[in-house]
Amino acid sequence: MNLRDPSHEIEVFERNAPGVTFGWGVVFSDLTVDNITRNDPGSAKTINEELAHWDDIDVHFRGETITSGGHGFIGIGRKRLLEILQDRARALGVVLHFNAECDPTDSKWRDYDLVIASDGSNSRFRDAQPEAFGVDVDVRANKFVWLGTSKVFDAFTFAFEETEHGWIWAHAYRFAPDCSTFIVECSEETWRSFGFDRMSQDESIASCERLFARYLDGHSLQSNATHLVGSAAWLNFKRIKCERWSSGNVILLGDAAHTAHFSIGSGTKLALEDAIKLADLLNRKGLSLEAALDEYQAERSLEVLKLQNSARNSTEWFETLERYTHFEPLQFAYSLLTRSQRISHENLRLRDREWLETVERWFWKRATEGKSNKTAPPMFAPFKLREMEVMNRVTVSPMAMYSAVDGVPNDFHFVHYGERAIGGAGLVFTEMTCVSPEGRISPGCTGMWNGDHIAAWKRIVDFVHTQSKAKICLQLGHSGAKGSTKLGWEGNDVPLDDGNWPVMAASDVPWSPVNQVPRPMTRADMDTVRDQFVAAVRMGLEAGFDMVELHAAHGYLLAGFISPLQNKRTDEYGGSLENRLRFPLEVFAAMRAAWPKERPMSVRISATDWAGESGITPDEAVLIGETFAQEGADLIDVSAGQTWAGQQPVYGRMFQTPFSDRIRNEGKLATMAVGNIYEPDHANSILAAGRADLVALARPHLVDPFWTLRAAAALDYREVAVPPQYLNGMAQLARNMKREAEAAAALRV
Ligand SMILES: Cc1cc2nc3c(=O)[nH]c(=O)nc-3n(C[C@H](O)[C@H](O)[C@H](O)COP(=O)(O)OP(=O)(O)OC[C@H]3O[C@@H](n4cnc5c(N)ncnc54)[C@H](O)[C@@H]3O)c2cc1C
Ligand SMILES: Cc1cc2nc3c(=O)[nH]c(=O)nc-3n(C[C@H](O)[C@H](O)[C@H](O)COP(=O)(O)O)c2cc1C
Repeated sequence: MNLRDPSHEIEVFERNAPGVTFGWGVVFSDLTVDNITRNDPGSAKTINEELAHWDDIDVHFRGETITSGGHGFIGIGRKRLLEILQDRARALGVVLHFNAECDPTDSKWRDYDLVIASDGSNSRFRDAQPEAFGVDVDVRANKFVWLGTSKVFDAFTFAFEETEHGWIWAHAYRFAPDCSTFIVECSEETWRSFGFDRMSQDESIASCERLFARYLDGHSLQSNATHLVGSAAWLNFKRIKCERWSSGNVILLGDAAHTAHFSIGSGTKLALEDAIKLADLLNRKGLSLEAALDEYQAERSLEVLKLQNSARNSTEWFETLERYTHFEPLQFAYSLLTRSQRISHENLRLRDREWLETVERWFWKRATEGKSNKTAPPMFAPFKLREMEVMNRVTVSPMAMYSAVDGVPNDFHFVHYGERAIGGAGLVFTEMTCVSPEGRISPGCTGMWNGDHIAAWKRIVDFVHTQSKAKICLQLGHSGAKGSTKLGWEGNDVPLDDGNWPVMAASDVPWSPVNQVPRPMTRADMDTVRDQFVAAVRMGLEAGFDMVELHAAHGYLLAGFISPLQNKRTDEYGGSLENRLRFPLEVFAAMRAAWPKERPMSVRISATDWAGESGITPDEAVLIGETFAQEGADLIDVSAGQTWAGQQPVYGRMFQTPFSDRIRNEGKLATMAVGNIYEPDHANSILAAGRADLVALARPHLVDPFWTLRAAAALDYREVAVPPQYLNGMAQLARNMKREAEAAAALRV
């Protein structure tokens, strides 16, 4: 503020004495330092002279050290940073008061034009008016203690130790020539099992020194949280959000307004950026104080939200760490580095090409059981399910085209599926193909219940097999309570104007107030439907499909059995999850028995009803996946939602992938991820991090059947299956994309 206009009168009140602070060093990225340099070259110069800079990240896991470079961090002691900023403030005429505890109820604050409450995550100013600020606090599960050590780490170090009490790990980095931060973290269960809850601070520290002795080389650990006694030095991270950042003449800044988990090292950066933006706006000519405060929140909250989302992913990764401890060290490190979804496969290539290529070679070797040593993007690696091998990991997700007459696929479908098969994807799914006329969603749905269907599908399947290297999977389903509705583009889930047919479902729960009340299924209905699925599987075999998927997601008949929001039965098909799964499993088992052993089957599930605890939860989805796998499902196709009209989904890039990650790594099952995966970089990051075995793209394939070929051109991968007729076009595309990438890289330099 005073740099921009020296006539401002500014006072700082700090409860501590000068030079006293909690915590040790903090890290910034190079970008944050650039930002400080632009705004206060004076402070930036001193900071730059004193900070520790490093590029490498070391991950110690199961006796191996995985080192990757190019990460560009700087570290500085919290105390030193405060001294630098305090000296600078004093020099610019700011009045500093120390040992000055501030009470938000004190009337003196009314005399100031503006009170900037930058009083940290336990802000008294914020907590004095929780409603006015709309405070939301989420206390996270893990325990951590922020320690320091004289051991100097050359790289940002993550050290994971498996003990008889569970996993415990350290985040360590140098912030001064002779000092490093050393944060120890573990689950609450491990923490209690170690007895940390009953130890004094000194005992905890001695215990951590023993646990991490091999990284400390005889150096001790120290705490500067001397005001905290006993186990109180161990904290749970508090994620704080505020709906409003100002009230009256008080504005929140930094941790008082928002926190970001320490594992993404961005809290200080956010606080500094808040301060820079606030100073800019308060000094902007023609802007009233009120307008400046509004704009401050509008601009900053977006940036904060993005970081808090990444921080949430990172927090959850550490909270569910045991999910990944079966990974080999290289993949474990990759998963750790990409945990927040801010760093992707291609980011890693830019940071450290050699390391990334080691990961790619490792991936290919595993994908080919040691036969290939290729260095190429993971999405192009083959994948085997039973005797079916797909040439790459990209799938055209099932998409209803609403264009059939009496269930018979026609020339539209022939071109649609044919074009997507020659577009380069390894596996093409049909739309939900219905096992009976009344099992259709709309009059335009494709079916598999008579000879015309077999013949029409066979024509498509034969084309795929003779003209492309793709495999084709038949998705079979029954619409249940969501049946008898208009074509997708005429109104989603809206009943027909006339000609409606009666619908049945697990219970008499209509999809919405405008939909029919379905007839609850009798046991005889169940027999009929099960047999229709089996008949459709046999017809699928006649048509030549490579694979069959049972559609048990999105609120259709079988999903309606699984979800407690649609299934209100009181017999053995309702109530517990085991009961609700009984009929879908019976159908699946009967289909599996009719489908050849060497050909794979998958099941599509909704891993959450997006209804909190009252619906299917991601936890239960693991159990659902495992149960289908026991009946012979080779792949769980992990979708989400659309199981009740009141769902509250949280959308975003790759938003359903965490469910796939969970099912794959907790259930140890093969999975396919789907949902807003649209860049090759998304696909490669998901696959290399072991969050799925296949990736499915729906909407991107609607407008671009050649998505995979385009990705191959962009990534300069030459061995993709290009139809010979199109080779020239592909070569030109690859050349042009390479030239553009080189020009973009030159610009960056
Ligand atoms: C373990 C851990 C590691 C972290 N590592 C990093 C990292 O590597 N990089 C990074 O950028 N961020 C990191 N952070 C986050 C970072 O520490 C905070 O985001 C940052 O300190 C926020 O700055 P602030 O000024 O808003 O709050 P604080 O730094 O908490 O400062 C608040 C100040 O207000 C004073 N105060 C509070 N109440 C009163 C009162 N009533 N009267 C007078 N004075 C008062 C306090 O004494 C304190 O000096 C980490 C956090 C933790 C917990
Ligand atoms: C037009 C359209 C039709 C769809 N039809 C089906 C379907 O028949 N069966 C199914 O399981 N999912 C269906 N879906 C869902 C997609 O397979 C996919 O899960 C969803 O669109 C999210 O992926 P995306 O973000 O790549 O589009 C459909 C999606 C779209 C856009």
